[in-house]
Amino acid sequence: MKKISILFVCLGNICRSPAAEAIFIDLIKKKGLTDGFIVDSAGTGSWHIGKKADARMRISAERRGLNILSTARQINPKDFENFNYILAMDNSNFKNINDLKNRNSSSNFSSIKKIQDFRSVFKDLEVPDPYFGGDEGFDHVLDILEDSVGGFLESIS
Ligand code: 4NP
Repeated sequence: MKKISILFVCLGNICRSPAAEAIFIDLIKKKGLTDGFIVDSAGTGSWHIGKKADARMRISAERRGLNILSTARQINPKDFENFNYILAMDNSNFKNINDLKNRNSSSNFSSIKKIQDFRSVFKDLEVPDPYFGGDEGFDHVLDILEDSVGGFLESIS
């Protein structure tokens, strides 16, 4: 069976998209679906390439049993040929991903969506950027991503 590939994308790839990636990996592991997926994350920006996820996000995630292991990278035009789904955390990421695609790739392979389109419990239409805020922002990001990432998996199952 061909694997389904999923790329979560935010701005820096050190807070929201690594968290979404870890939540998705944890969910498919619990459901025995790990072998069916390729999961990755990326940022639209380049500032944090090569860095581990923000320590505040890693600590908040660890408190709920989630290990964030990803290393930051920037989205690139090849991703539009390799990933079945590219999931943006907010409207700005969504616009930047589509602009990059329209300028650099003729491939229509990827389905580009906003992760909050798959929310059910939380009303947030975007995953808020927690980087410049307090610690509670990281927990809120995890709360809303547990909801919408789960909804996304259900939508493709
Ligand atoms: P992320 O958060 O997009 O969720 O990884 C941010 C991380 C870093 C910056 C902005 C947002 N920054 O400006 O460096």
